[in-house]
Parts: sequence; structure tokens; C-alpha cells
Amino acid sequence: MNGLRLPPRLAAVAEVVPQCRVLVDVGTERAVLPAFLLFEGRCQRAIGVERSANVLREAAAELDALGLRDMCELRLGDGLSVLEPGEVDVIVIAGIGGRLTVRLLERDLPRLRSRPLALVLQPMSEPELVRRWLETSGHRLGVAPLAERLVVDAGRYYHVLVAGDQTIAGTAPPSPEKRAEIAGRLGATAAGELGVYLLSAGDPLLAGYIGWRRASLEHLVQRAAAGGSPAGVRRAMSARRLERALARIENLLRDKSW
Ligand SMILES: C[S@@+](CC[C@H](N)C(=O)[O-])C[C@H]1O[C@@H](n2cnc3c(N)ncnc32)[C@H](O)[C@@H]1O
Repeated sequence: MNGLRLPPRLAAVAEVVPQCRVLVDVGTERAVLPAFLLFEGRCQRAIGVERSANVLREAAAELDALGLRDMCELRLGDGLSVLEPGEVDVIVIAGIGGRLTVRLLERDLPRLRSRPLALVLQPMSEPELVRRWLETSGHRLGVAPLAERLVVDAGRYYHVLVAGDQTIAGTAPPSPEKRAEIAGRLGATAAGELGVYLLSAGDPLLAGYIGWRRASLEHLVQRAAAGGSPAGVRRAMSARRLERALARIENLLRDKSW
């Protein structure tokens, strides 16, 4: 315990950050996460990146108050663009959208991969885009997807994805056989939404997540159908398809027949 309290979402991120030399927290806001990890001794140094100068000033004041200013450097800029190759061994991107997360990784990761890296990613939306990007581009860039977990915070579910060099991330991906078995049982639609990692780890929040996700899809179907436009009807149909696929998995989990 270090006296700093993190909300459940950030606590789940902190929990999977491996022991490291230098960590970067992209979109650090008030630098709460790096401060926590520095106090814990999880990283020796940290870099907080923020695109808002005002927010960065607040982060500097927080770090001053905590006496951590010389251990956490703050940089004003866009994502990973302010880093030099080899500077960091762990990259955290939490609290921003999945689409932007992918864009930041795609643009700058190839430049930064001169040492083994671990990534901890917590997208606020479209986690499936991040997972898919890691699966299609991660191996080539030395940041293969390794694990995923769910966290619930104020009634909302979030995904935390871990990728990268297995030796520093300290977590192993499911075997190819296990992956194939899970993907086969899920079917293409549910596999696109859930991926294989939550099921392979037996995430205790998975059934709750599926129920929550189905409710949000139902809401989307109602809204899209009410609009009546051809695009809305198409969206409603694909949301309905996904909802049915998730309902099947939810039943399997509930009956313990997974
Ligand atoms: C919702 S806050 C999340 C703060 C913290 N990471 C968390 O998870 O609680 C998102 C922060 O990311 C910053 N941000 C968004 N896009 C960014 C980018 N491309 N580069 C740097 N910072 C960014 C925003 O200014 C904001 O302070």
C-alpha cells in the first residue's frame, strides 16, 4: 500500500504492469498511474505524455506535491511521437478510445521497437479493434497479444489487454490448440467480439460482461430501428446478429457447459 488510491479501472491496469526500468503512460492526465507505480517500485522511472498543456501543468503540481517530480518526466505531445527508440520498456495507453490507441501504435511503434517491449492497453471503446490489431500486426512488431482481463468500474465494463515480449510481460498466451478450440466453439461472430483470451483465462467477469454488452446492443437495435434509415436498419441487423451469438455463449457459461 502506498497511500494513493486508484479507481478499479486503473487499479486493474496497474496490476498487470510488469516490473520495468522505464514506463511511459500515454494520455497520463494528472499522472496518477505513474505516481502509483513509482511508489510501488514497479518502475524505476516514468514518462507521462499528455497532449494538453493545461492538464500537464496540473500533473506537474501533483508530482511536486508527491515528491516524485525527478522520477517522472512529463512531455507535451501526441502519443508515442515524443519518445526515442529504446527509451522505454513498458508502454501504457489507458483511458482513450480503441481506434485512437491503434492509430498511435501503428504510427510510432515500428520506430520504438529496438528493445523488448510490453504493452498494457485499456481502451475506452471498441476493444475488439485493439485486439484485432495486436493479432494482425503485433507479432511483426514484437508485441504479440498475450492476455486480457475485464474490470468493472461504476457499472461499466472495461478490457485490459497485455501484449509484447513474454519475458518482460510475465504472462503467456494460450496455446494454438486452445485458441483453435475456443474460436471454434465461439463461432466467427462471437469470436470477433470476445476474442479467445478472456475464455482461455476463465475471466470471472465474462458472464456479467456478456449480459451488459447484450443490453447495450439491444439499446442500439432499438435506436437504429426507430431511425428507419437503410443504414440504421443494417446496423440494427448486425447488432441483433451479434446479440444472438452472445446470448448463445452466455447460456453455455450459465449452464456450465462451456
Ligand atoms: C480520459 S483521460 C485518461 C487519463 C488516464 N490515462 C486514465 O486512464 O484515467 C485521457 C487523457 O488522454 C489525453 N490524450 C488524448 N489523446 C492523446 C494523445 N494523442 N496524446 C497524448 N495525450 C492524449 C487527454 O488529453 C486526456 O488527458
